Amino acid sequence: MYSENPDRFSGDPSHFVAWALARLPSSSRPLRILELGCGVGRDSRVLARAGHRVVAVDHSRVAIERARGRRDNPPGLEFLEDEGLARLARTASKSLDVVYAHGVYMGFREEELDELVKGLARVLRPRGRHLFAVRATIDPHFGKGREVSKDVFWGGPHPTPMHYYRRETLARFTPPGFVRFAEELREDLALWYVGDRRR
Ligand SMILES: C[S@@+](CC[C@H](N)C(=O)[O-])C[C@H]1O[C@@H](n2cnc3c(N)ncnc32)[C@H](O)[C@@H]1O
Repeated sequence: MYSENPDRFSGDPSHFVAWALARLPSSSRPLRILELGCGVGRDSRVLARAGHRVVAVDHSRVAIERARGRRDNPPGLEFLEDEGLARLARTASKSLDVVYAHGVYMGFREEELDELVKGLARVLRPRGRHLFAVRATIDPHFGKGREVSKDVFWGGPHPTPMHYYRRETLARFTPPGFVRFAEELREDLALWYVGDRRR
């Protein structure tokens, strides 16, 4: 995707990052943030410019090379070519304040979501937060292609299976011991904006 389209996700930051910035835990020190599926880093730069220490990973080598090559990368930002769950597994327990992901989990299989939820419960500190955005079933592409499992469509406009979320299915992201403190359907973008925090 990134090789074929040099401008993919390279423009303005997502709308979601402003929403997320307003929902970071309050702290007198820089927060430690892990961004999963950072693409070319348009949101990573915003988070780091706000004074936080950001590790941003993507499994696309092309995306990470492009992200690293930017001249406007602020201090406190590190880009790594890595698979998100593998990175989470290598992250020390209770070492992060925030895990951030914009538009990433729709391709995760059920067992990968289980692994994600376990990983979040392990790496996030007390008061730590998981802030993420996923595609909603109101998306015009919902229902296109073949339904390979509930709400997962393959063969429509996306090259890989795509999970569209409804309010009920969003609950599966909340690890035990966490509480959902924010959940918003952005109808204009067909995205759910979600925040979970450790109790
Ligand atoms: C829709 S793009 C969004 C990119 C970025 N978050 C943004 O908003 O600009 C999803 C990104 O997630 C990455 N991705 C998907 N699954 C991943 C995984 N398991 N590990 C790491 N990166 C992943 C893809 O390579 C892609 O760059």
